[in-house]
Amino acid sequence: MVLAQLRAVYNRNPSMFAPAGPYAHRIALLGWGMIIAATIIFVAVLYLMLAGLWRRRHATVASESDQPTPFASAERWVLGGGMLMPILVLAGVFLATLGTLRAEGHLDEQAALTVQVVGHQWWWEIRYPGAAFVTADEIHIPLGQPVRLTLRSADVIHSFWVPQLNGKTDLIPGQENTMFLEASTAGAYRGQCAEFCGMQHAQMAFSVVAESPRAYLAWVNRQRQSAPIPTDSVQLAGRRAFSAHSCSFCHTIRGAGASGTVGPDLTHIASRLTIAGGALQNTPATLGGWIANPDRIKPGTRMPAVPMSGGDLNAIVQYLETLK
Ligand code: CUA
Repeated sequence: MVLAQLRAVYNRNPSMFAPAGPYAHRIALLGWGMIIAATIIFVAVLYLMLAGLWRRRHATVASESDQPTPFASAERWVLGGGMLMPILVLAGVFLATLGTLRAEGHLDEQAALTVQVVGHQWWWEIRYPGAAFVTADEIHIPLGQPVRLTLRSADVIHSFWVPQLNGKTDLIPGQENTMFLEASTAGAYRGQCAEFCGMQHAQMAFSVVAESPRAYLAWVNRQRQSAPIPTDSVQLAGRRAFSAHSCSFCHTIRGAGASGTVGPDLTHIASRLTIAGGALQNTPATLGGWIANPDRIKPGTRMPAVPMSGGDLNAIVQYLETLK
């Protein structure tokens, strides 16, 4: 899918109850099962409590000499309702959860594609080791097949969550975790960091684009290409200004002599749905605003505001817009 198509299908408010793949489907089913069971139990307990209150009140009004409930009967209620029932219910929920978890156990042999995800404060580095390119905040996967994700963190604990595709898995410093994604419906699904990781935790989003294997391969082939040298004079000036203002110390643009690895790889920045860790839609205006003053949009961000003239800023934005 190209950017215009992505914008059209991108859902910024995902729900785990609108699953788009088999794992998320199982989780949604488990979720509904638990909600229904909890509702039945809640109503039953409420009914028993009200019935008890009503009976007691009625008995007091009727006669003072009524027999109190026999101790043995009360004991049965406490043992049955207070111990046996919770044990049965919790064991049932536990087994259902284990079943949902186990369903992913066999995927390791099936998953042909591996994507490496590295969490940073506050953006996502996405590596495609098989295809030798790096991108940011956007994962593309082919429809209808399990994709293995290896999750690492560059700093603190983050948590990877795409509610419509699977549950959460933490990214833990010094450890590599594995999880799987599979989509059965094409679309662009919003993901979100789900573990508080500092000031801009809420602005640490990403998207997963699930597309037909053919569209996926076309995307991979585009991403593998180096950035072209522009022919337009403003864009060329932007390319020079990018280096002159030391942007290349932090960012990589393959084919433009920029190889920094502190921030996101920008080789194909203009092809992405969002910038700034999902904080902004990717448009020339938001890109310019972000470069001019990142801290205004994401207070605490690691990206510094580099002082530059309006002309340079405009040229850099125009150059970056060519990196499709
Ligand atoms: Cu990363 Cu919260």
